[in-house]
This record gives sequence, structure tokens and C-alpha cells, in this order.
Amino acid sequence: MTTPTAPSPSRPTPPYFERHIFFCLNERKNGEASCSQHHAQEAFDHCKRAIREANLNGPGGVRVNKAGCLDRCSGGPVAVVYPEGVWYTYVDTDDIDEIVRSHLKGGQVVHRLELDPGVGR
Ligand code: FES
Repeated sequence: MTTPTAPSPSRPTPPYFERHIFFCLNERKNGEASCSQHHAQEAFDHCKRAIREANLNGPGGVRVNKAGCLDRCSGGPVAVVYPEGVWYTYVDTDDIDEIVRSHLKGGQVVHRLELDPGVGR
């Protein structure tokens, strides 16, 4: 007769990516505000390039993702970083460089670019 063995203590599985940043690239053709009107595609492309150049891409690193409307349009353009759930707005690629350097690489939130908590659609 065999004795059932106790389950082995589970170890947390490391996340596949350390962080994700999602850029809203939504485009509206009905005249309502949308992030694509604020150079969101350019910011997304710039961020992808910066992450690659910093060798932060790939497993264990940072994934830069496209998103549709994130429902915070009046603060657009917007992007959100997980797992922290920090929402950003930005003006230009210098702002994106700061988010990459400070938050995505260094883990420090860029408070000056945080989206106001009351901003919605
Ligand atoms: S259009 Fe970008 S958050 Fe809605």
C-alpha cells in the first residue's frame, strides 16, 4: 500500500512579461474625440522602438500593446501600464521616453504624466 504524498508547496510562477503598456489607438470618424487624433500611433511606434533599443522586449520584459478605446477618451491620448494599473496621458515622444526610462525600465511612476482619476469618456 502506498501512502499518498502531500502536494508539493506551490511556487508562484513568474509572470511571462514584467509589464504591459497598452496604448489606445482608437479612431472615431463621427467627430467625437479619440486618441488617434493626438498622435497615438506615433507614440505607440516610438515606445515599441524604445523598448526594443533598450533590450526590454521579450519574456521577462515589457510588452507594448495596441488597444481600442479604453473609455477615458476626454484625457486622451492615454496609455495604461500593468500590473501597477497606472494611467498616463502624454503630449510627445519625450513623454514616452520618460515613461520608458522611469516606469517601464526603472519601476518609478512618472507622476507628472498621470491621468487625473476623474477623467472618463
Ligand atoms: S478613444 Fe482613447 S480612451 Fe477612448
